Amino acid sequence: ADALKIGIAGLGTVGASLAKILVERRDMLATTCGRPIEIAAVTARSKGRDRGVDLSAAEWFDDPVALAREAKIDVFVELMGGAGDPAHAAVKAALSRGVHVVTANKALLAAHGVELAGIAEENGCILNYEAAVAGGIPVIKALRESLTGNTISRVYGIMNGTCNYILTKMEKEGLSFEACLKEAQRLGYAEADPAFDIEGNDTAHKLSILTTLAFGTKISADNIYLEGITNISIDDIRAAADLGYRIKLLGVAQKTDTGVEQRVHPTMVPLDSVIAQVDGVTNAVAIESDILGELLMVGPGAGGNATASAVLGDIADIAKSRPGAQTVPALGRPAASLIPYKRAQ
Ligand code: HSE
Repeated sequence: ADALKIGIAGLGTVGASLAKILVERRDMLATTCGRPIEIAAVTARSKGRDRGVDLSAAEWFDDPVALAREAKIDVFVELMGGAGDPAHAAVKAALSRGVHVVTANKALLAAHGVELAGIAEENGCILNYEAAVAGGIPVIKALRESLTGNTISRVYGIMNGTCNYILTKMEKEGLSFEACLKEAQRLGYAEADPAFDIEGNDTAHKLSILTTLAFGTKISADNIYLEGITNISIDDIRAAADLGYRIKLLGVAQKTDTGVEQRVHPTMVPLDSVIAQVDGVTNAVAIESDILGELLMVGPGAGGNATASAVLGDIADIAKSRPGAQTVPALGRPAASLIPYKRAQ
């Protein structure tokens, strides 16, 4: 079968991990996907940097929007980050000419998800974004596909690996907030601007995506009560432990009598709860629904390989899809399900 040609925009922690996996596991992926996956084009801020993978066969673009507009590709993989341009313009350009998009960019989706899903649908494209929420945990798939027919009452969890890593290390090793944050940055967990992590915005972006999928509301990070972990001290963590609790930064979206409530804040969770045991960069997402009951998914939430694994799954889905399949609500949902929809009451 013909190779699936992909263009990768962004070769940072996630992009470099993805490129390596695609090259090293080429044969295995060709077998599982039924066709080879070929990196046909790339773009990144620095061209010369050694990323431990040979990308010389791919066409180099200086400008991500030019890559999205001109490269001979089937899938545009956006791993640049940032809510605005060039990510926004590049994703729009790709979808507008019928090129499928895989993105890990939660800030972009929180700001423009509904618009982009609309453009994808108009052009018969797939827009996949599993890696945008909770790293390698397949929570988008759970909401888009597995829980079809369920009415969801609550979605909550630990959705920022950097914050959970900091809180865990402060408690277990007694290190300062600043030292823990530096380490999270060194390990490739934190955002380019780590204020997004520690002030809770990154969790809010992810939560707004889950809320839209779970409840069919219009995506909106603005309607979220927001409080990060910058004011949490080791003394707070110890005081909570004395009372039988652990402090976790949670994102919570739940149905109330007046509408869907969304909040992000440090929360005291009982020490013997599963969520209290979720340590380090690990994330956890709980979904409460009427047919299934409570689903709890725990797994790596940030970092090159965890995020690349989810991106790869999204690319594989496209490689395996039949032409036109994206316009069919296969598995009960349209592919571009960021568009608000009404759940049956
Ligand atoms: N900075 C994010 C985190 C990366 O720490 O969770 C994954 O989205």
